Amino acid sequence: MLHLVGLGLADEKDITVRGLEIVKKAERVYLEAYTAILLVDKVKLEAFYGRPVIEADRELVESGSDDILAGADKTDIAFLVVGDPFGATTHTDLVLRARELGIQTNVVPNASIMSGIGCTGLQLYNFGQTVSMVFFLENWKPSSFYDRVRENVQIGLHTLVLLDIKVKEQSMENLARGRRIFEPPRYMTVAQCASQMLETEEERKEGVYGPDSLAVGAARVGAPDQKMVVGTLKELCEVDMGEPLHSLVLLGRRTHDLERDFIRQYAVNEATFDASYAKYYGASS
Ligand SMILES: C[S@@+](CC[C@H](N)C(=O)[O-])C[C@H]1O[C@@H](n2cnc3c(N)ncnc32)[C@H](O)[C@@H]1O
Repeated sequence: MLHLVGLGLADEKDITVRGLEIVKKAERVYLEAYTAILLVDKVKLEAFYGRPVIEADRELVESGSDDILAGADKTDIAFLVVGDPFGATTHTDLVLRARELGIQTNVVPNASIMSGIGCTGLQLYNFGQTVSMVFFLENWKPSSFYDRVRENVQIGLHTLVLLDIKVKEQSMENLARGRRIFEPPRYMTVAQCASQMLETEEERKEGVYGPDSLAVGAARVGAPDQKMVVGTLKELCEVDMGEPLHSLVLLGRRTHDLERDFIRQYAVNEATFDASYAKYYGASS
């Protein structure tokens, strides 16, 4: 059987009892290592699980899935995914491939950033569509996220923005020369995200949000040193939230008083928070 096991958000101890039992008995254990990272390294996982863990990069999962599935008709293979296996990560293609090969599948859920973000004090009921922010390049600044943010803003809902991760990336030169040399991993910060959002607004000029719009930055959700900050997008461009992973929530207009009181506790500056809030937020419809 192919088991997709959610690892939760922070460290080796966030796996569920059911997940750990599967890891201990599986023939091979893969760790999906490109859509999110745990806040501890592989060695720590292996020590806690008492099993060797094979890192599965995008290439292996997307082009070499038959290697992962080899033998899974007779024995158990565990495929570990940070967060929840189906939370903002789609491994449905791997499940479909397994089914095509007549391999049974089993999913062990866990906490996801999609629910963990509730730690900000913002109600999950009040979120609209989730969007992703990719690292902009000189001549490639995709802004499709902006249209979805607009739809959320129009109905007053919060927008969860998930931030880009680049692992096992090759420079253009190494790629062109076919050299398998990889750049160090990169994780987008809340400050970079806020700045790219403002750059997009300046480009599109549709007034979906602006420098005074409020947003919440959340870093290392679920870890003992999780950090949250609320401020205007302009303020968040300067904020240092420390180690990855980071997410950002653009505040919706229909913020409830309880949500406001909760997030105000971690305002970069209470005066600018109050001024912006009084101007743009708290509408009941
Ligand atoms: C593609 S999503 C993968 C989600 C994962 N499967 C889950 O269920 O949580 C990865 C993005 O979610 C956000 N993220 C994941 N874990 C996080 C954490 N502990 N704290 C803050 N943001 C997190 C980051 O923006 C990261 O780049």
